[in-house]
Amino acid sequence: MRFYIKTFGCQMNERDSEKVEAILEENGWQKSDDPKTADLLIVNSCAVREKAENKIYSEIGRLRFKNRKAKIVAMGCVAQFAYDRLSKVADIVIGTNTIDEFCRIAKDYSVEGVFIKDKMEEPDHIFPHVKSVVSFVDIMYGCDNFCTYCIVPYTRGREISRKKEAIIDEIKELVDNGTKEVVLLGQNVNSYGKSLGYNFVDLLYEVNKIEGLKRIRFTTSHPKDFSKELIYAIRDLDKLCEHVHLPFQAGSNRILKLMRRKYTIEEYLEKVFLLKSEVKNCSITTDIIVGFPTETENDFEKTLEVVKTVEYDTSFSFKYSPRRFTKAAEMEGQIEEDKKLKRLNILQQLQAEITQKKLKEYEGKIVEVLIEGKSKKGDKLYGRNRQNIVVNVDFRDNIKAGDCLRVKITKALKHSLIGEPI
Ligand code: SAH
Ligand code: SF4
Ligand code: F3S
Repeated sequence: MRFYIKTFGCQMNERDSEKVEAILEENGWQKSDDPKTADLLIVNSCAVREKAENKIYSEIGRLRFKNRKAKIVAMGCVAQFAYDRLSKVADIVIGTNTIDEFCRIAKDYSVEGVFIKDKMEEPDHIFPHVKSVVSFVDIMYGCDNFCTYCIVPYTRGREISRKKEAIIDEIKELVDNGTKEVVLLGQNVNSYGKSLGYNFVDLLYEVNKIEGLKRIRFTTSHPKDFSKELIYAIRDLDKLCEHVHLPFQAGSNRILKLMRRKYTIEEYLEKVFLLKSEVKNCSITTDIIVGFPTETENDFEKTLEVVKTVEYDTSFSFKYSPRRFTKAAEMEGQIEEDKKLKRLNILQQLQAEITQKKLKEYEGKIVEVLIEGKSKKGDKLYGRNRQNIVVNVDFRDNIKAGDCLRVKITKALKHSLIGEPI
């Protein structure tokens, strides 16, 4: 039996799709890149913006058209709330807390229906992985922050941390199977462990001790919980990479308050400055929303100011998209689409210039690159430096995935670097 899987959304969804892939493969299924020849067509959905949400419907339509015989599974964040509507177009609907249902589906092709739960029953369960140099590891599920624009607390449920022992066991097993780098995942990793009596930094110290593991990354940090201790851990722990993704969303304190982000831009910048002064060569990336309800030109200018001040290595910026269940969708002062687009373009142009300048600074420098595999075109090998920037090196017989090389950067491209192993 063959399956095809299409994944939208963030790393959490990527990890969930990997779980599905590994479960099916353990049960003798084969992954297929061609939906026409598959028996099971799976779409893992994202609901964070309206455009993302709509994709699951168009994708299911496309897949049905290509292959009328296969069963279709709708899963992920949209499935968690739109299960009724999806059950009319898909044979199986699986929410974010019921991935384990795939263990049944893998064994029994006749299983159909809607499988949704409000809560994950066994968060400490260790789902299988697909062998890889870089592996995602969930350390917590859900989010309790309820930023007023965000649907995630409604699609992923309440925050729940996995026990340290389960995480460590999972990583040790990964390392035994060839993983060199782990990316610890949570919507707000800095609030990890609150209900368990320990914290995220404790976890990092434990993970850093794992023999054979070369690198640790994590995502995402919420600025309100981004602690000095974490900054010191990035400075002091050899495996913890010098890269922090710290979304600020907006530069105006009035907007931040309406977003319920629970920090001021001054507090945010203070943390960034401490990070920059304590951790040499730390790359900082961020998420930004433009056109939140009532955002004025002046508010938007403040967002641009922050980007200029911090000089992010990259940023992910989005037009505000009203989402069901959320408070901001009901707010007065929604901004017109063309105004949002204009602001987005200005912001992205500014960021492109900064990214280019930052990448150029790497030219001539020597960086550590962990090789992940062949590049898409197949003529080069690609990996990342510790700052999470993609580095391509010329193909050589003696270099393989999992090698950690010292590389001299010869050229900066638009979003990546080219280098030569030394
Ligand atoms: N937990 C992470 C973010 C998860 S969603 C955090 O708090 O940083 C990823 C990004 O999508 C957010 O950082 C935000 O910039 C963007 N986003 C979320 N909801 C949005 C919406 N309604 N409209 C536009 N962008 C949104
Ligand atoms: Fe959404 Fe805010 Fe939670 Fe991030 S912290 S997932 S933006 S509610
Ligand atoms: Fe991720 Fe999208 Fe869900 S960003 S948590 S897949 S809504």
